[in-house]
Amino acid sequence: PFPPKVRIVEVGPRDGLQNEKIAIPTGIKIQLIENLVDAGLTYIEAGSFVNPKWVPQMADSGEVFTGISRKPDVTYAALTPNLQGYERAIAVNANEVAIFAAASEAFSQKNINCSISESIQRFQTLIDAAKSQHIPVRGYISCVAGCPYSGAVDVHTVASIAKELLAMGCYEISLGDTIGVGTAGQIKNLIETLARDIPIEKIAAHMHDTYGQALANIYAALEMGVSVIDSSVAGLGGCPYAAGATGNVATEDVVYLLNGLGIEHGVNLEKLIHVGNTISIALNKSSNSRVAKAMSK
Ligand code: HMG
Ligand code: MG
Repeated sequence: PFPPKVRIVEVGPRDGLQNEKIAIPTGIKIQLIENLVDAGLTYIEAGSFVNPKWVPQMADSGEVFTGISRKPDVTYAALTPNLQGYERAIAVNANEVAIFAAASEAFSQKNINCSISESIQRFQTLIDAAKSQHIPVRGYISCVAGCPYSGAVDVHTVASIAKELLAMGCYEISLGDTIGVGTAGQIKNLIETLARDIPIEKIAAHMHDTYGQALANIYAALEMGVSVIDSSVAGLGGCPYAAGATGNVATEDVVYLLNGLGIEHGVNLEKLIHVGNTISIALNKSSNSRVAKAMSK
C-alpha cells in the first residue's frame, strides 16, 4: 500500500553539488538551501565533512552551515565518513549526520578508502559519539543495485549491512542506487527482502537517474510502503567515485509523481521549480527535471 505521506530528503546541496568541477561560491550554496526550505522542504542534506582533498567542492560546508539562516522544524543534515567529519559537522550545529557504507567492496575502497568491515568499525566510534550527544544518525548503503567496478550486488549483502547499521544505532537506511542501474522489479525484490527483517518505515530510497529508471524505482518503493524519498532539485549531481553516474532523481519530478498519487509531502511545486531553475542558471546548465522543463515553457 502507498504511504499517505512522504518525507522528501533533499540532497541537492550535497549530492547535487559535490561533483561540480568549478568552485561554487558559498553564498550560492547558502541561497539554494534557504530557497529549498522556502519551497517547503524540511530535510536538507546541506553539505559533507569529508577530506577536502577528495571532494574539494564540499570544503566550505562549515561556512555553509554557519551562513544559513535556520528555520525551526527543518533538519539541516551533514554527510560524515568518520569521527573527524562528525566533529566538524557538530561544531557548526548540524542537526543530524549521515554515514555511508557500500554493498560492494570495490566501491567501498574507492569511495572511503577502506573495506566494508573497516568502515563499519569507524562508524561505531562516530555513532557512539552521536548517541552521547543525542544526534540522530542516518545510514546510506551505496551500490544496492550494482557496482560500477564489480557489477552485480547480492540483495543479501545489502540486507546484512542494513541490519548491522540499524543495530549500531542508525535510525534509517537509505538505499543508494549510486549508478542508477536498478529497475523496478529489482528494487521491489530488494525491498521485499529487506522488509522481512526491517520495518518499512526505516527504509529510504535514494535513486540516481543515470538509466532513466529512478521514478519507476521510486514508484516501486512507494508501492511497497516506503515513505522516505531522497532527491535533488533540478536532478543535480553525480558521484565523484562512480564515473558517468548522473544526478539523483529530480525533486520536482518526485513532487509531481506524489501529487498525482495524492500522497502528502508539503512542498510547493511552483516555488520548487523556480529554485531548481535558479540554481541551474547559476551553474550554467539546463535543469534535469522533466517537470521543470515542461512547466517553465
Ligand atoms: P583516508 O585518506 O583513508 O583518511 O580517507 P585517513 O583517516 O587516512 O586521513 C588522511 C587525511 O585525511 C588526514 O589528513 C586526515 O586529517 C584527513 P592529512 O594528515 O593527510 O593532512 N581527513 C579528513 N579531513 C577532513 N574531514 C574528514 C577527514 N577524515 C580524514 N572527515 C576518507 C578516508 C573517508 C576521509 C576519504 O576517503 C574521504 O573523504 N572520502 C570522501 C568520499 C565522498 O565524499 N564521496 C562522495 C559522497 S558518498 C555518495 O555520494 C553516495 C551517496 O550519495 C549514496 C549513493 O548515491 O549511493 C551517499
Ligand atoms: Mg547519491
